[in-house]
Amino acid sequence: MAQLRLPKDSRVNPRGRVHRAAASSASTRTLRIYRFDPESAEGPRVDTFELDVSSCPMVLDALILIKGTLDSTLTFRRSCREGICGSCAMNINGLNRLACTTSMADLGGEIRIYPLPHMPVVKDLVPDLTQFYAQYALVEPWLKTRTPAPPDRERLQSKHEQERIDRPAACILCACCSTACPSYWWNGERFLGPAALLAAYRWIVDTRDEESGERLDQLEDPFRLYRCHTIMNCTDVCPKDLNPAKAIAEIKKMMVTRRY
Ligand code: SF4
Ligand code: F3S
Ligand code: FES
Repeated sequence: MAQLRLPKDSRVNPRGRVHRAAASSASTRTLRIYRFDPESAEGPRVDTFELDVSSCPMVLDALILIKGTLDSTLTFRRSCREGICGSCAMNINGLNRLACTTSMADLGGEIRIYPLPHMPVVKDLVPDLTQFYAQYALVEPWLKTRTPAPPDRERLQSKHEQERIDRPAACILCACCSTACPSYWWNGERFLGPAALLAAYRWIVDTRDEESGERLDQLEDPFRLYRCHTIMNCTDVCPKDLNPAKAIAEIKKMMVTRRY
């Protein structure tokens, strides 16, 4: 998996504070973590933490240990600890990943942890995802029908029809994909990004939905869909092994098919 080439942010002070646990041992590791406090006059900095991580199988465990023992002000999101909620997404050693499913043993040397790239930062490792969620809402991610449901049963699908939406519906909205996409970095306000487009695809191909034409109309725009230039970072980084790049290509194909 290729690392993201992030532009250097000259405002970040690379020599922040150093926090060391009292004794060092063979399991002592160094983590360099981006810090930003909107209430402080100080700009962003990178702090160094050195501590025994023998009780930390995953990166999230190390962050929780740091918060509990070295610096209680360290701020990050997490909830499920099982790769399901998507809230612990961050940039670890140059890749967008989930801290709770990234093994410490798989990361050699110093571990560098930054918030998801190219998003405004609320505090430390917490990005502001307001725009990301607004774009998700814009694709209206719910079933839209015009005909009444059968009185005696649910709207049924064949096994094959269900399988078509199975994978896209497994998206956990972690934002790893959209924040790894250079097109989204530069046109984030107008290009919907791979996560929202994957959600759009999931509803367009749902055989129970009766507004797929209107859904395609919504995406027929020079920016919303067509700013995807098949860079593929989105699919490379997805922690759930989903393929937003393929979903976007499928939507583009549907656009052409319906035109001719
Ligand atoms: Fe996260 Fe993958 Fe969904 Fe993108 S497609 S938001 S990377 S789960
Ligand atoms: Fe971006 Fe993925 Fe397209 S990385 S350009 S959305 S293929
Ligand atoms: Fe839920 Fe990591 S804490 S995905």
